[in-house]
Amino acid sequence: MKTNSNFRNVGFPTVRLRRLRRSPAIRDILQETRLSVKDLICPVFVKEGIEKPQTVESMPAIERIPISKLIKNIEAITDLGIRAILLFGIPSHKDDNATSAYDDQGIVQQSTDIIRKHFGDNIAILTDVCLCQYSSHGHCGILKNQTVDNDNTIITLRKVAISHARVGADFVAPSAMMDGQVKAIREGLDNAGYSDTGIIGYSAKHASPLYAPFRDVAHSMPNFGDRRSYQMPTSNAREAIREIEFDINEGVDIIMIKPAIPYLDLIYQAKTTTTLPVCAYSVSGEYALIKAAADEGWIDENAVMSEFMISIKRAGADMIITYYAMQMAKLLNEC
Ligand code: PBG
Ligand code: ZN
Repeated sequence: MKTNSNFRNVGFPTVRLRRLRRSPAIRDILQETRLSVKDLICPVFVKEGIEKPQTVESMPAIERIPISKLIKNIEAITDLGIRAILLFGIPSHKDDNATSAYDDQGIVQQSTDIIRKHFGDNIAILTDVCLCQYSSHGHCGILKNQTVDNDNTIITLRKVAISHARVGADFVAPSAMMDGQVKAIREGLDNAGYSDTGIIGYSAKHASPLYAPFRDVAHSMPNFGDRRSYQMPTSNAREAIREIEFDINEGVDIIMIKPAIPYLDLIYQAKTTTTLPVCAYSVSGEYALIKAAADEGWIDENAVMSEFMISIKRAGADMIITYYAMQMAKLLNEC
């Protein structure tokens, strides 16, 4: 590579990078990575059996909403120009086999139906496909001898995905980290006549302590053990790429890296080693860290939020799932 060492020379020409930063207008035309409201995906938590929205201490400004407030809530999201939501259900009934996850009258199924009927195709609906909120033990799959039984679990995940497709989900998002989950779901959707329904895979989902606030909101804390026998270890980048390769071979449409900020290297690798759209999930703990420090007055919330989002895009994400979606959209719309 040729170096710009000219600055050291007394002679001509002198390269000065500060010319690129002299004024806001110059900085604007030279901005390499741009964030758009259309890049943002907004998570939505719908809870069965409540009348009023509920707040949770560890996730300020995020609510569990009742089904009666769903349309108003989604309207507020689409009014900002946001094009997609990720739906999470919080059911009133849990059992060992997570049967409420694939109930045709379940919370996600009802919500998807209502949103699709009211908003048509004006919003892309992504639905989280997992069993942890629906199982009495809080694990992401069906248990056998106190461990998650992979091959039995993917049969249930397939039923969940089909039940979401039936009411109009655009993309189902399997997040259980079971081997073969994408293949099982793709085959199930195709056989049931839902070949237009896509799959966004939580391909490299790490066993992260940053999920703690989410588990408060979604009541999905496992009641024994942890998720390390199915979610990825932080340390293994090559294994993360294998997870992505498996999802691609099984027919996934969009790959996802989760969490985002601690795994920017994986977002970059996913973007450069594959040709699929790359989604980054900036998780509950990433949101909570900024919120808590901002509440103390230690950092500028909008500035840190923007730095996180633009960095996730710079690393290679085509879209970002973030609890800051609405706040970020408001800020972008002001500019
Ligand atoms: C369910 C699920 C989790 C998240 C998304 N889907 C939690 C978990 O695996 O425990 C985490 C989201 C977040 O922290 O924002 N499998
Ligand atoms: Zn789960």
